Amino acid sequence: MEKYMKRESIGVLVSGAGSNLSAMIEAGLSIAVVVADRECDARWVAMEADIPFRVVRWEEYKDARDMSAARNLFTQQIVREMRRHEVTLVAMAGFMRILSWHMFEAYPQRVLNVHPSLLPLFPGAHAVCDALAAGALETGCTVHIATEKVDDDQYILAQQRLPVFPHDTEASLHTRIKAIEHRIYPTAIKEYMDQLKNRVPI
Ligand code: GAR
Repeated sequence: MEKYMKRESIGVLVSGAGSNLSAMIEAGLSIAVVVADRECDARWVAMEADIPFRVVRWEEYKDARDMSAARNLFTQQIVREMRRHEVTLVAMAGFMRILSWHMFEAYPQRVLNVHPSLLPLFPGAHAVCDALAAGALETGCTVHIATEKVDDDQYILAQQRLPVFPHDTEASLHTRIKAIEHRIYPTAIKEYMDQLKNRVPI
């Protein structure tokens, strides 16, 4: 029974500034480890909060036999880090690499992502730029359960729209999107963790 009552412990995946990580910390989420694919400013956010920060450097894997082999080895190493820190839920927060099936097998329905567009619109690594280039009059952000399909819109947990202004640049629009992400992502994670309480733990 005790196992069923176990508190969720979050592993956060980052590649950049770490503003979403910061919002999660401020929201009081229990974060066991932060894992990055490169050196990035999120390190300082984690350090400030006394959370272990690990780098699994994509660069070290990218010369494997082929892309799929590289992705597998890279992902397996991340899964090891997550397990080492007893992570039960993985939250991608600006993580700019594609994970292999190993992650989704190790953490079934337990990998979340925040994406800076209204999925299914503008998936991929340049969502803000793509929305501007398409002349979109509105865009937004999405919190979803991640699967092997990149930016999968099948399980959307939260979504919020915002207008695109004529004078918007990628930077100004992304800043406004992030401000919304900082509110909806921690809330969606908390709500999802509540749902998980009724499920068999991994
Ligand atoms: C966020 O806007 C997040 O939605 C985006 O990267 C930013 C990270 O900011 N993620 C993606 O584009 C994933 N496809 P942060 O490092 O300041 O949290």
